[in-house]
Amino acid sequence: MNKPVQGAQLLAAAALSYQSGFGNEFASEAIAGALPIGQNSPQRVAGDLFAEQISGTAFTAPRASNQRSWLYRLLPSAMHPAFVRMEDGLIRSAPLREVETPPNRLRWNPLVMPVAPTDFIAGLTTFAATGDVLLQDGCAAHLYCANRSMERAFYNADGELLFVPQAGALRLVTEMGVLALAPGEIAVVPRGVKFRVLLDDASARGYICENYGASLRLPELGPIGSNGLANARDFLTPVAAFEDKAGPCELVAKFGGHLWCTTLDHSPLDVVAWHGNYAPYKYDLARFNAMNSVSFDHPDPSIFTVLTSPSPVAGTANVDFVIFPPRWMVAEHSFRPPWFHRNVMSEFMGLVSGSYDAKAEGFLPGGASLHNSMSAHGPDAVSFAKASRAELLPQYLEATLAFMFEARYPFCVSRFALEAPELQRDYDACWQGFSRPGN
Ligand SMILES: [Fe+2]
Repeated sequence: MNKPVQGAQLLAAAALSYQSGFGNEFASEAIAGALPIGQNSPQRVAGDLFAEQISGTAFTAPRASNQRSWLYRLLPSAMHPAFVRMEDGLIRSAPLREVETPPNRLRWNPLVMPVAPTDFIAGLTTFAATGDVLLQDGCAAHLYCANRSMERAFYNADGELLFVPQAGALRLVTEMGVLALAPGEIAVVPRGVKFRVLLDDASARGYICENYGASLRLPELGPIGSNGLANARDFLTPVAAFEDKAGPCELVAKFGGHLWCTTLDHSPLDVVAWHGNYAPYKYDLARFNAMNSVSFDHPDPSIFTVLTSPSPVAGTANVDFVIFPPRWMVAEHSFRPPWFHRNVMSEFMGLVSGSYDAKAEGFLPGGASLHNSMSAHGPDAVSFAKASRAELLPQYLEATLAFMFEARYPFCVSRFALEAPELQRDYDACWQGFSRPGN
């Protein structure tokens, strides 16, 4: 191949095209002939590109869980000046001890869209975090609000980022190519992969799970069998696309719980070709093949797990991503909404659209709730009264999309989350008004 000619090839305008499958050995080249055949590191790569490996697991991780990709780029990632600390804004990491976290149920109204120019990084706000970022254990729950596309690039050494957009379409311009992302879809950018978030609309709002632990994967299906829930073929990974652009570019890194920045003299999104199984991906939640009871009782919410980050304890996730999508409710002689419970795992929830069947009001699209370890929760009094007396005809729950980041360790909340005007200080009241039997 010829060396790419100078001149900006704007990634934002790159034709959107995807490779399908979850965690496949993908291969893609934006210029024919750029990808070496039969080896990873030729003495000279075609077009004098630089070969570079990015590892998502230890080199010696078992083959079934080993993740790495080979990137062929215009300049090596190593060519950068020293990073210097910058303001963290409202981004926090675990261990998070800036305020004392109460055992109370917490719920927040949606964040108000910013007025001042705010890109994805500036608008990233941590609500809760658990585990320890430097031990690569636990996760953080953030919300984002933005009204500007990023001009700078970003990578996160602390964890992979699961995007759950709630309002506004995004374009994730990554080293491996471009992902278009709209509410109702999710995307994951692996730890360390550089990217920029562009807005396709005037503003954007959504949720981020920053997973410090083992990378998200599809859950085991057990007796469900070989199909169902999120099917592997519905996950989409971008094809190679690159920016050949000289000139200053700010690169922000999140490392050790803090933001750091440096300025490059070129675009870091300059990967002409790549292959491997460590790459960003997206998934349309409408393709989730929901399973549920066709006889009686409400199964545990784990039946709705889309992706899971396992911990070393069998069956105990570091964090699960669980959704509550549109679905039929047909259970006989059963209380159909989620039951009252106290869970050793900790539940951070959000609502993409519609309403949630365990709450009559107050849980709003763009809002969030936290039910920490062993905090009693379940249907509010209005929902309980209604569902207890409802005629149990088959019912289609439509126009709803709630989700949960369910973590192994209790979440600690940020000062912002505990003091924000968005915190609903009367949330406990929704569980008042139940009567003793016979009253
Ligand atoms: Fe719950």
